[in-house]
Amino acid sequence: MGLNASPTIAILASGRGSNFEAIADAIEAKLLDARIAVVISDRPESLVLEKAKARGLETLVEKNQKKMKSTLQELNLDYLVLAGFMRILSAEFISAFSDPRGFARIVNIHPSLLPEFPGLESYKKAFEQKLLGKLSRTGITVHFVDAGVDTGLICAQREFSISDCHSVEDVERRGLAVEHELYPQTLQWVLQNQFEIIKKGEKLHVQPHRSHS
Ligand code: GRF
Repeated sequence: MGLNASPTIAILASGRGSNFEAIADAIEAKLLDARIAVVISDRPESLVLEKAKARGLETLVEKNQKKMKSTLQELNLDYLVLAGFMRILSAEFISAFSDPRGFARIVNIHPSLLPEFPGLESYKKAFEQKLLGKLSRTGITVHFVDAGVDTGLICAQREFSISDCHSVEDVERRGLAVEHELYPQTLQWVLQNQFEIIKKGEKLHVQPHRSHS
């Protein structure tokens, strides 16, 4: 990143693109300092592509991860931002974005309080536990991506109550509202590298600089 330049990101998404919109809105509102170089989808029919084009952004459809990796490497990105990207990234792809501090410069948002409910349908899993009387809260996690499924270093988490949710849709509606706030807010300090990676025992942790924690 050059002096005074905004961090450059690419957004990878497979579907609806509401998190993409939240990020693009935050950039327009100057709440998030970033420049979106391209929005890439693995699915030509995904709504996110229309939404990105409507904002005058570059878009690309690419299913092949090797090709996607070379395209992204040419863009000299600061970070890669996943927003509902439904493919598992290969270890080779991830290592192309590795940072000397011990993580990959790829960020993802996941709709649960990881390590609870990794993988697909996390809102549904939370609602099922709620129906069994075992859960009254769930949450959202923003994390760095590693080669596992939703196992990378956690940047930020935010909880919300689901005690008065009567359907999965209720949980999702509430969760998405949290996602749309938490993702741009977290990206603002992650993209500026305003954090330390600290070691607690054998484990690494992301420690935001004090003004962001
Ligand atoms: C969100 O729930 C996100 O947490 C998950 O996939 C969904 C994407 O939604 N990773 P959208 O495409 O951003 O609307």
